[in-house]
Amino acid sequence: MSEVNNAFEHAKKWIQEAGAQIREQMNQPFEINTKKDHTDLVTEIDKNTEEFFIHKIKEHFPHHQVMGEEGVGEEVTSLDGTVWIIDPIDGTLNFVHQRRFFAISIGIYVDGEGLYGLIYDVMEDSLYIGIKGKGAYKNGERLAAINQERTLEDALIGINNFWAIPNKRLDETKIHELVRKVKGTRSYGSAALEFAFIAEGIIDAYITMRLAPWDIAAGKILVEEVGGITTKVDGSEIDMLNGNPVLCSNKAIHQSLLTFIKEK
Ligand code: IPD
Ligand code: CA
Ligand code: CA
Repeated sequence: MSEVNNAFEHAKKWIQEAGAQIREQMNQPFEINTKKDHTDLVTEIDKNTEEFFIHKIKEHFPHHQVMGEEGVGEEVTSLDGTVWIIDPIDGTLNFVHQRRFFAISIGIYVDGEGLYGLIYDVMEDSLYIGIKGKGAYKNGERLAAINQERTLEDALIGINNFWAIPNKRLDETKIHELVRKVKGTRSYGSAALEFAFIAEGIIDAYITMRLAPWDIAAGKILVEEVGGITTKVDGSEIDMLNGNPVLCSNKAIHQSLLTFIKEK
Protein backbone atom coordinates (compact mmCIF):
# COMPACT_ATOMS: atom_id res chain seq x y z
CA MET A 1 0.00 0.00 0.00
CA SER A 2 1.39 3.41 -0.93
CA GLU A 3 1.82 5.95 1.83
CA VAL A 4 -0.95 8.19 0.55
CA ASN A 5 -3.26 5.21 0.25
CA ASN A 6 -2.45 4.40 3.85
CA ALA A 7 -3.25 8.01 4.78
CA PHE A 8 -6.64 7.66 3.07
CA GLU A 9 -7.40 4.44 4.98
CA HIS A 10 -6.66 6.26 8.23
CA ALA A 11 -8.69 9.30 7.13
CA LYS A 12 -11.80 7.10 6.65
CA LYS A 13 -11.45 5.76 10.17
CA TRP A 14 -10.60 9.10 11.80
CA ILE A 15 -13.40 11.05 10.14
CA GLN A 16 -15.97 8.65 11.58
CA GLU A 17 -14.31 8.69 14.99
CA ALA A 18 -14.31 12.49 14.96
CA GLY A 19 -17.99 12.49 13.95
CA ALA A 20 -18.85 10.21 16.89
CA GLN A 21 -16.98 12.56 19.25
CA ILE A 22 -18.91 15.56 17.88
CA ARG A 23 -22.22 13.75 18.44
CA GLU A 24 -21.16 13.09 22.03
CA GLN A 25 -19.74 16.55 22.80
CA MET A 26 -22.73 18.41 21.38
CA ASN A 27 -24.96 17.12 24.16
CA GLN A 28 -22.84 18.93 26.79
CA PRO A 29 -22.66 22.74 27.09
CA PHE A 30 -19.92 24.14 24.82
CA GLU A 31 -18.35 27.50 24.18
CA ILE A 32 -19.42 29.51 21.11
CA ASN A 33 -17.46 32.51 19.82
CA THR A 34 -17.70 34.79 16.82
CA LYS A 35 -14.91 35.39 14.29
CA LYS A 36 -15.28 38.02 11.50
CA ASP A 37 -18.84 39.05 12.48
CA HIS A 38 -21.93 37.78 14.30
CA THR A 39 -22.73 35.30 11.51
CA ASP A 40 -19.29 33.70 11.58
CA LEU A 41 -19.26 31.26 14.49
CA VAL A 42 -16.70 28.93 15.93
CA THR A 43 -17.21 26.55 18.86
CA GLU A 44 -14.77 24.71 21.05
CA ILE A 45 -15.95 21.55 19.26
CA ASP A 46 -14.67 22.89 15.91
CA LYS A 47 -11.28 23.42 17.55
CA ASN A 48 -11.25 20.09 19.39
CA THR A 49 -12.06 18.29 16.15
CA GLU A 50 -9.30 20.03 14.22
CA GLU A 51 -6.86 19.23 17.05
CA PHE A 52 -7.93 15.58 16.93
CA PHE A 53 -7.00 15.35 13.23
CA ILE A 54 -3.73 17.24 13.59
CA HIS A 55 -2.64 15.07 16.47
CA LYS A 56 -3.44 11.87 14.54
CA ILE A 57 -1.85 13.04 11.28
CA LYS A 58 1.33 14.29 12.92
CA GLU A 59 1.63 11.06 14.90
CA HIS A 60 1.34 8.82 11.82
CA PHE A 61 2.58 11.06 8.98
CA PRO A 62 4.88 13.66 10.58
CA HIS A 63 6.07 15.07 7.24
CA HIS A 64 2.56 15.74 5.85
CA GLN A 65 1.30 19.32 5.91
CA VAL A 66 -2.11 20.11 7.41
CA MET A 67 -4.21 23.12 6.44
CA GLY A 68 -7.19 23.53 8.77
CA GLU A 69 -9.78 26.25 9.10
CA GLU A 70 -9.19 26.93 12.78
CA GLY A 71 -5.47 27.41 12.34
CA VAL A 72 -4.44 24.71 14.81
CA GLY A 73 -2.00 23.35 12.22
CA GLU A 74 0.77 25.16 10.44
CA GLU A 75 0.34 27.90 7.87
CA VAL A 76 0.47 26.17 4.49
CA THR A 77 1.96 28.26 1.71
CA SER A 78 2.70 25.56 -0.84
CA LEU A 79 0.97 22.38 -1.98
CA ASP A 80 4.24 20.47 -2.39
CA GLY A 81 4.21 16.98 -0.88
CA THR A 82 1.15 15.56 0.85
CA VAL A 83 -1.28 18.15 2.21
CA TRP A 84 -4.41 17.45 4.22
CA ILE A 85 -6.99 20.23 3.80
CA ILE A 86 -9.51 20.03 6.62
CA ASP A 87 -12.72 21.72 7.68
CA PRO A 88 -13.47 20.20 11.10
CA ILE A 89 -17.09 21.37 11.02
CA ASP A 90 -18.46 22.80 7.79
CA GLY A 91 -21.79 24.46 8.54
CA THR A 92 -21.03 25.69 12.06
CA LEU A 93 -24.10 27.96 12.05
CA ASN A 94 -26.27 24.92 11.33
CA PHE A 95 -24.39 22.96 13.99
CA VAL A 96 -25.08 25.63 16.62
CA HIS A 97 -28.67 26.46 15.65
CA GLN A 98 -29.98 23.21 14.26
CA ARG A 99 -27.70 20.47 15.55
CA ARG A 100 -27.74 18.97 12.05
CA PHE A 101 -26.80 19.72 8.40
CA PHE A 102 -23.07 19.98 9.03
CA ALA A 103 -20.13 17.92 7.83
CA ILE A 104 -16.47 17.19 8.30
CA SER A 105 -14.51 17.72 5.09
CA ILE A 106 -11.06 16.34 4.29
CA GLY A 107 -9.15 16.59 1.02
CA ILE A 108 -5.82 14.81 0.59
CA TYR A 109 -3.63 16.44 -2.05
CA VAL A 110 -0.23 15.36 -3.37
CA ASP A 111 1.85 18.00 -5.15
CA GLY A 112 -1.32 20.01 -5.77
CA GLU A 113 -3.37 17.13 -7.17
CA GLY A 114 -6.51 16.12 -5.27
CA LEU A 115 -6.39 12.35 -4.72
CA TYR A 116 -8.96 11.69 -1.99
CA GLY A 117 -11.99 13.68 -0.86
CA LEU A 118 -14.02 12.70 2.22
CA ILE A 119 -17.18 14.43 3.41
CA TYR A 120 -18.93 13.05 6.47
CA ASP A 121 -22.50 14.16 7.12
CA VAL A 122 -22.23 13.69 10.88
CA MET A 123 -25.89 13.46 11.91
CA GLU A 124 -26.94 11.38 8.89
CA ASP A 125 -23.92 9.14 9.44
CA SER A 126 -23.27 9.30 5.69
CA LEU A 127 -19.74 9.18 4.34
CA TYR A 128 -19.11 10.52 0.83
CA ILE A 129 -15.78 9.61 -0.73
CA GLY A 130 -14.16 10.60 -4.00
CA ILE A 131 -11.05 8.75 -5.17
CA LYS A 132 -9.22 10.32 -8.09
CA GLY A 133 -9.75 8.11 -11.17
CA LYS A 134 -11.72 5.50 -9.20
CA GLY A 135 -15.13 7.07 -8.67
CA ALA A 136 -17.26 8.59 -5.93
CA TYR A 137 -19.12 6.67 -3.26
CA LYS A 138 -21.74 7.20 -0.59
CA ASN A 139 -21.50 4.74 2.27
CA GLY A 140 -19.54 2.39 0.03
CA GLU A 141 -22.02 2.46 -2.88
CA ARG A 142 -20.72 3.91 -6.12
CA LEU A 143 -22.47 7.12 -7.19
CA ALA A 144 -23.73 7.25 -10.78
CA ALA A 145 -22.38 9.76 -13.30
CA ILE A 146 -24.40 12.97 -13.04
CA ASN A 147 -26.91 13.92 -15.72
CA GLN A 148 -25.07 15.94 -18.39
CA GLU A 149 -28.27 16.61 -20.37
CA ARG A 150 -30.01 18.62 -17.67
CA THR A 151 -30.73 22.20 -18.69
CA LEU A 152 -30.96 25.27 -16.48
CA GLU A 153 -34.77 25.24 -16.73
CA ASP A 154 -34.73 21.82 -15.15
CA ALA A 155 -32.02 22.49 -12.60
CA LEU A 156 -32.20 22.78 -8.83
CA ILE A 157 -29.34 25.04 -7.80
CA GLY A 158 -27.67 25.75 -4.47
CA ILE A 159 -27.18 29.47 -3.93
CA ASN A 160 -26.91 31.67 -0.88
CA ASN A 161 -29.78 34.24 -0.77
CA PHE A 162 -27.18 36.88 -0.06
CA TRP A 163 -26.15 36.92 -3.73
CA ALA A 164 -29.68 37.87 -4.84
CA ILE A 165 -29.72 41.10 -2.82
CA PRO A 166 -27.53 44.11 -3.70
CA ASN A 167 -23.97 43.16 -2.81
CA LYS A 168 -20.49 44.23 -3.74
CA ARG A 169 -19.35 41.05 -5.48
CA LEU A 170 -21.79 40.32 -8.29
CA ASP A 171 -24.59 41.82 -10.36
CA GLU A 172 -27.71 40.79 -8.42
CA THR A 173 -30.04 41.60 -11.35
CA LYS A 174 -28.49 38.70 -13.31
CA ILE A 175 -29.07 36.46 -10.29
CA HIS A 176 -32.74 37.56 -10.24
CA GLU A 177 -33.00 36.39 -13.88
CA LEU A 178 -31.31 33.15 -12.94
CA VAL A 179 -33.66 32.51 -10.01
CA ARG A 180 -36.64 33.02 -12.34
CA LYS A 181 -35.20 30.67 -14.96
CA VAL A 182 -34.24 27.62 -12.93
CA LYS A 183 -36.56 24.99 -11.50
CA GLY A 184 -35.68 25.87 -7.91
CA THR A 185 -33.02 27.16 -5.52
CA ARG A 186 -31.75 25.77 -2.25
CA SER A 187 -29.44 27.03 0.53
CA TYR A 188 -28.11 24.25 2.71
CA GLY A 189 -25.58 26.24 4.76
CA SER A 190 -22.74 23.77 4.33
CA ALA A 191 -20.57 24.07 1.24
CA ALA A 192 -19.23 20.54 1.70
CA LEU A 193 -22.75 19.11 1.73
CA GLU A 194 -23.69 21.12 -1.38
CA PHE A 195 -20.77 19.48 -3.24
CA ALA A 196 -21.78 16.06 -1.89
CA PHE A 197 -25.38 16.64 -3.02
CA ILE A 198 -24.20 17.55 -6.54
CA ALA A 199 -22.15 14.33 -6.62
CA GLU A 200 -25.22 12.43 -5.46
CA GLY A 201 -27.30 14.10 -8.20
CA ILE A 202 -29.89 15.64 -5.84
CA ILE A 203 -28.96 19.21 -6.76
CA ASP A 204 -27.43 20.30 -10.06
CA ALA A 205 -25.23 23.28 -9.26
CA TYR A 206 -23.77 25.39 -6.49
CA ILE A 207 -22.78 29.04 -6.75
CA THR A 208 -21.08 30.96 -4.02
CA MET A 209 -18.80 33.96 -3.92
CA ARG A 210 -16.28 33.17 -1.23
CA LEU A 211 -15.14 29.75 -0.22
CA ALA A 212 -11.89 28.85 1.47
CA PRO A 213 -9.76 25.87 0.34
CA TRP A 214 -11.11 23.69 3.21
CA ASP A 215 -14.70 24.25 1.96
CA ILE A 216 -13.78 23.05 -1.54
CA ALA A 217 -10.91 20.56 -1.29
CA ALA A 218 -12.88 17.35 -0.78
CA GLY A 219 -16.00 18.34 -2.73
CA LYS A 220 -14.09 19.16 -5.90
CA ILE A 221 -12.64 15.65 -6.06
CA LEU A 222 -16.01 14.05 -5.36
CA VAL A 223 -17.80 16.04 -8.06
CA GLU A 224 -15.11 15.45 -10.68
CA GLU A 225 -15.47 11.70 -10.16
CA VAL A 226 -19.11 11.81 -11.30
CA GLY A 227 -18.34 14.03 -14.30
CA GLY A 228 -18.99 17.45 -12.77
CA ILE A 229 -16.77 20.51 -12.83
CA THR A 230 -15.71 23.10 -10.23
CA THR A 231 -14.19 26.43 -11.25
CA LYS A 232 -14.14 30.02 -10.12
CA VAL A 233 -17.22 31.96 -11.28
CA ASP A 234 -15.30 33.32 -14.29
CA GLY A 235 -14.56 29.76 -15.43
CA SER A 236 -10.91 29.79 -14.36
CA GLU A 237 -9.20 27.17 -12.18
CA ILE A 238 -9.67 26.97 -8.42
CA ASP A 239 -6.72 28.16 -6.34
CA MET A 240 -6.36 25.65 -3.51
CA LEU A 241 -4.21 27.99 -1.39
CA ASN A 242 -6.60 30.97 -1.34
CA GLY A 243 -10.28 31.99 -1.24
CA ASN A 244 -12.36 31.48 -4.38
CA PRO A 245 -15.76 32.43 -5.78
CA VAL A 246 -17.08 29.02 -6.81
CA LEU A 247 -19.27 27.56 -9.53
CA CYS A 248 -19.83 23.80 -9.46
CA SER A 249 -22.21 21.83 -11.68
CA ASN A 250 -22.53 19.37 -14.53
CA LYS A 251 -20.68 20.42 -17.69
CA ALA A 252 -23.74 21.50 -19.70
CA ILE A 253 -25.17 23.97 -17.23
CA HIS A 254 -21.73 25.18 -16.14
CA GLN A 255 -21.46 27.00 -19.46
CA SER A 256 -25.01 28.43 -19.24
CA LEU A 257 -24.46 29.57 -15.65
CA LEU A 258 -21.37 31.55 -16.60
CA THR A 259 -23.59 33.96 -18.57
CA PHE A 260 -25.64 34.78 -15.46
CA ILE A 261 -22.77 35.45 -13.12
CA LYS A 262 -21.23 38.82 -13.64
CA GLU A 263 -18.73 39.90 -11.06
CA LYS A 264 -18.73 43.59 -10.08
C1 IPD B 1 -19.31 28.01 5.74
C2 IPD B 1 -20.39 27.14 5.13
C3 IPD B 1 -21.38 27.98 4.38
C4 IPD B 1 -20.71 28.84 3.31
C5 IPD B 1 -19.63 29.70 3.96
C6 IPD B 1 -18.62 28.82 4.69
P1 IPD B 1 -18.17 27.13 8.04
O1 IPD B 1 -18.34 27.22 6.41
O2 IPD B 1 -19.83 26.20 4.25
O3 IPD B 1 -22.34 27.18 3.72
O4 IPD B 1 -21.68 29.68 2.71
O5 IPD B 1 -18.97 30.44 2.96
O6 IPD B 1 -17.65 29.64 5.29
O7 IPD B 1 -17.73 28.48 8.50
O8 IPD B 1 -19.47 26.73 8.59
O9 IPD B 1 -17.12 26.10 8.16
CA1 CA C 1 -15.68 25.24 9.59
CA1 CA D 1 -16.45 25.75 5.96
